[in-house]
Order: sequence, then C-alpha cells, then structure tokens
Amino acid sequence: MEVTEMEFLEVVGTRRSTRWFKTYQPVEREKIQEILEVMRWTTCPGNLQPWRAVVVWRDELDPDIREELLQADNWQGAHVQAPVWIYIFADPEAARPGSFATSTQQLIEVGAVPTAYGWSKTRIVDAIERAVETPAGMAAINELLHDLPHEASATIAHSETVGACAVTVLAAVNAGLGTCLHMIARPNKQARVKEILGVPEHWIPVWVQLVGYPAEGVEAGGQRPRQPFESTFFEGNAQTPFRRDPKVVEKMEREKLLQAPAPLPGRRDELMFLARMYGYPEDQDD
Ligand SMILES: Cc1cc2nc3c(=O)[nH]c(=O)nc-3n(C[C@H](O)[C@H](O)[C@H](O)COP(=O)(O)O)c2cc1C
Repeated sequence: MEVTEMEFLEVVGTRRSTRWFKTYQPVEREKIQEILEVMRWTTCPGNLQPWRAVVVWRDELDPDIREELLQADNWQGAHVQAPVWIYIFADPEAARPGSFATSTQQLIEVGAVPTAYGWSKTRIVDAIERAVETPAGMAAINELLHDLPHEASATIAHSETVGACAVTVLAAVNAGLGTCLHMIARPNKQARVKEILGVPEHWIPVWVQLVGYPAEGVEAGGQRPRQPFESTFFEGNAQTPFRRDPKVVEKMEREKLLQAPAPLPGRRDELMFLARMYGYPEDQDD
C-alpha cells in the first residue's frame, strides 16, 4: 500500500523501525530531497543547525566500498536491503559560542527573538565574551556560553542532531517510505566510514538513516511496545502521574496515532516469508 497524504498523528503512529526493505525498488530522488528539506526545519537552540548529512545511493557504490560500509554496521539486514543510506553527522563548530552569537543576532534582525525581552546584539556579545549577566527576560547565555569548552559544543551539536533525526524519520514515513536509524558504524570503524564519505575530521558520527520501500506490511506486525503513559509522564512533580483522559486516548485511536499493538496475528508467518525471500534462516533460536 502506498502511504501518502497522511495527517501528522497518523504519520507518527504509522512509523515503525523498518527492518525489511524491498531491496530491488529504488527510491525516487525527490523523496530523499523531501526528507532533507524537512530536516532543515528542525528546531534547535540558537538556531545553530549543526546537522550534516551525506546521502549514499547503495547501487552507485563501488562494490568494495559498499561491503566496507555494510561490514561497519555488522551486515544488519535492514542496511543490506535499504537502497538509500543517509549518513548523519554533527558539526561541533556550528555549536561554538561565536556561531551562537552570529545566529541569534540574525534572529534579532528577522524579528524572531524579541528586543522587548532584552535581546540585543551588544548584550549577546557581552554575555558570551565577557560573561556580562543578561537581563531578566533574555536567556542566561552568559552562564551557558561564556568559556564554553569544545566538549560541550560537541555534546550540543550531537544532541541537537539526534533531535533532527527524530524529525527525518517522520519525513520518510510521510513520503510513503520505510525507514530505520542505525549506528553509523561500530566504534572502531567510524574513522574509516568518515574517510570513505570524505567528511571533515571534526564532524561527529550520529546515525545512519536507512530508507527504502518496506518489504513488510505497513503495520509491520503492529506498534512496538511502549512503557505505560502514567509511569512516563507526570505533572507538578515526578510522583504524580499525568492524568490521562480516556477521551483523548479515543481521539488518538481515531486519528491513528494509537494502532494495534505488536504482535498482530500473522506476524510470525510474515517474518518467515521475509526470511525465506532474502535467504535468512527462517527460525533462529530466541
Ligand atoms: C538511534 C537508533 C538506533 C537504532 N539502531 C538499531 C539497530 O542498529 N538495529 C535495529 O534492528 N534497530 C535499531 N533501532 C530501532 C529500535 O530498536 C526501535 O526504534 C525500537 O525498538 C522501537 O520500535 P519502533 O521504532 O518500531 O517504534 C534503532 C533506533 C534508533 C532510534
């Protein structure tokens, strides 16, 4: 089934970590561009936008390089089968205090960050360079950014890029594709993957987003387990579970955010046939 034109809640509810792809069906270039276009609009502190991505079309790779990239991910089935691999990195240079100053000054210019709250170009520079306290109403960037160590920039760049990945997986589903995030490479292969992809030394590997048309059904055996709402979300303090209104739950079911849980009937057979199709053992031990 082609999945298109879904509303937001259905996109979120329909996403699965796809582990079986139609390895023979290429993905349209436009759909990959669509994913990248969406990634640009992820939010992040100071509008730093530290994410970088290298799109790799599996079938255009030199066979030896393809094997090396697959070996780096331990030959996981989804990676072998997916025709497009989006390698996502974080650039810590984009999260240095100077970058923050430049981009927040731009946010003042475009009217996003209100001067009414105390933001000004001079205050931003004073706070970052000389730790001058910011007025109430403006973020306390003097504490956050003055003398920021390089390791902290790396952490910020990495965590903001992880956030962007949460958006790009939804973009893939919205485009009617299956997708899954994996580690770019086992730790001792990361440097080699960076070399193969020609990325600058200082970029940090985040995740590789595998993209293709799913070989499993859209439901992929049902929604995967989640921890109970009440032991995850609280109000006021961490001892008081957030009161979950059954009416909202019903709405979420109607809007297809909440779907039938895994395992759906027939999933074992589906997995058996997929394994047979791709030449994997049909029933390995638990
Ligand atoms: C950053 C990240 C890395 C992941 N790495 C793998 C992986 O290497 N292999 C795999 O089979 N699944 C991987 N997954 C999928 C998770 O196991 C999956 O998201 C989780 O079981 C929840 O299922 P769902 O995404 O279908 O809701 C990864 C997921 C994320 C977000």
